[in-house]
Amino acid sequence: MIILKKNIKVSPSILSANFATLGEEIKKIEGVADYIHLDVMDGHFVPNLTYGLLIGKTLKRITDLPVDSHLMIDNPENFVDDFCEISEIVSIHYEATNHLNRLVNRIKENNTKAFVAINPHTIVELLSDILMDVDGILVMSVNPGFGGQNFIPNTLNKIRQLDEMRKKMGLSFEIEVDGGVNEDTFEAVLKAGADILVTGSYTFGAEDPKKALKILKGIDS
Ligand code: DX5
Ligand code: ZN
Repeated sequence: MIILKKNIKVSPSILSANFATLGEEIKKIEGVADYIHLDVMDGHFVPNLTYGLLIGKTLKRITDLPVDSHLMIDNPENFVDDFCEISEIVSIHYEATNHLNRLVNRIKENNTKAFVAINPHTIVELLSDILMDVDGILVMSVNPGFGGQNFIPNTLNKIRQLDEMRKKMGLSFEIEVDGGVNEDTFEAVLKAGADILVTGSYTFGAEDPKKALKILKGIDS
C-alpha cells in the first residue's frame, strides 16, 4: 500500500460501539487511536438522539485518550463550556449558530481546540472569514445523524478546496473528515488533503479494531 501522508490521525466514533461493554470497546482501540469521537445529537439539529456530557465524563474516567466532541445540536453556545472541560477538540456546526466567531473564540478561551463542522451541502467558501481563527474544519461526508452511511463522493471536492485555501492563506488548521470512512474510501480522503479520519462502523464493526485503524494510518502490523 502507498503511504500517502505521515502522521494521519484517527478518531473512532463510539456511536458504533457496544455500550453494554464500553470499557472493553475502548481498550480495543487504545494504543492506536488518537482520539475518541463523541457524537452528541439533540433530535433537533439532526433527526437522532444520542448521548451527552455524562458519557463524556465517563470516558475521562476510563481512558487517557483525548475526547473529540462533535456537537450536532442547536444552540451549541449553551453547552460548549461543559464540553470543553472534557474534550481536546470541540466541533460546532456552521449551520447551528449565528455567532460562529464568538463561539470559536469561546472554545479557544477554554484552552480547547475549536473546529467548525460543515454539512455536505454547505459550501466551503462560507468559511473563508473564519479559517484564520479555527484549529480545524470537520467536513461531514455523510448527512449527520447516523453511523454506517455511504460516503458522499462530492465531498472530496470540499476537502481539496479547503486544502488549497489553507495553502494559499498560509494557515495550518487541520481537516477532519467524518462519515463513511473505511478501507474503500480512506485513500481518496487522504489524497484530497485530510489529516484526521473519523471512523465508526468500520472500526467497531471490525474483528480487530486496532488492525483496522492501523490500515488507515498506514502502519504495518
Ligand atoms: C454521523 C456522525 C459520525 C458517525 C460516523 O452523524 O457524525 O461520526 O458516527 O459513522 P461511520 O464511520 O459509520 O460513517
Ligand atoms: Zn461525528
